[in-house]
Amino acid sequence: MPIHMIVFSSRQYDRDVFTAANAAFGYSLQFQESQLDAQTAVLAHGYAVVCPFVNDILDEATLETLHEGGTQLVALRSAGFNHVDLAAAIRLGIGVVRVPAYSPHAVAEHAAGLILTLNRKLHRAYARTRDGDFSLNGLLGFDLHGKTLGIIGTGVIGRVFGRIMAGFGMKLLAFDPGAPAADLLQAGAHYVPLDTLLAESDIVSLHCPLLPSTYHLIDAAALARMKHGAMLINTGRGGLIDSQALIGALKSGQLGHLGLDVYEEEGGLFFEDHSNHMLQDDVLARLLSFPNVIVTSHQAFFTREALGEIANTTLGNVKAWFDGSPRYQVFP
Ligand code: NAI
Repeated sequence: MPIHMIVFSSRQYDRDVFTAANAAFGYSLQFQESQLDAQTAVLAHGYAVVCPFVNDILDEATLETLHEGGTQLVALRSAGFNHVDLAAAIRLGIGVVRVPAYSPHAVAEHAAGLILTLNRKLHRAYARTRDGDFSLNGLLGFDLHGKTLGIIGTGVIGRVFGRIMAGFGMKLLAFDPGAPAADLLQAGAHYVPLDTLLAESDIVSLHCPLLPSTYHLIDAAALARMKHGAMLINTGRGGLIDSQALIGALKSGQLGHLGLDVYEEEGGLFFEDHSNHMLQDDVLARLLSFPNVIVTSHQAFFTREALGEIANTTLGNVKAWFDGSPRYQVFP
């Protein structure tokens, strides 16, 4: 009997890569466009494996319904697992596995892209020249060479990102409660306390996970500690930043540029076309109105290579689980 797996929040690109990767596994895959939450969890009835994405809600109520429907394994197709109530999963005996690394290059390169775009105002130049406006007023940027980059979180992605930006001749500062990364030290990085990093960096980029201890790591006080006019990049998780506090910092010029790939209220908004509806989120609407802000909708991971790796690793995780040698478990 094939293993039955339901893939929530799936789009055509998920369908394509999972179907291709499944040729080597032969599972029975069901693709579901709906977001997984306490209401939609009934759709997983009879599926041993549930495959959610980053904005699905795996709270206690969802997990209980999955458990009643016979789900044994939650195979996350993401690295982050902050959207799962782990205590409830343990209590119900549902396993949770994830894809710890797929393409750190995808995320790191996107963060670099946000920096280059914001600095040289490519988003504005694109619109301007298409409108027949070939002036340069307002497009002045700065050399990255010789400037200071602060990296918060030097795990797999932060390290790749640091090495890329060292290639531009940037000085690297790093903050991470874990051990310093040898390759970043080799690239000339200095590990410093968080306050020093914030005070001395021209660009600050977030690459740490969202944990209770990192929730609103960047709040009004942290923004005030940054260099006047500095750039802030977040490709980590939305909850790392107090979004409301960004507005005041942008209005005063304390924050000079902002690049967000993630947003704390992105659930229900990102990955969908809302262009025919009024945006109800006033904070996001205000952020989108600043010319020196770029928001991308959680697309840093979105490369061909990363999607293929996610599908292969996820299906491999399912196989390992049912073979009795689980891997990449979120808890033992
Ligand atoms: P990782 O686990 O390899 O590295 C995370 C690093 O953050 C670790 O070195 C850890 O010690 C450090 N850290 C923990 N608490 C910290 C704190 N308070 N301050 C500074 N550093 C702290 O994770 P990886 O693969 O590098 O991913 C980082 C994050 O990027 C993920 O947790 C995820 O939220 C996000 N991500 C975003 C994607 C996107 O498409 N935008 C895609 C993939 C990951």
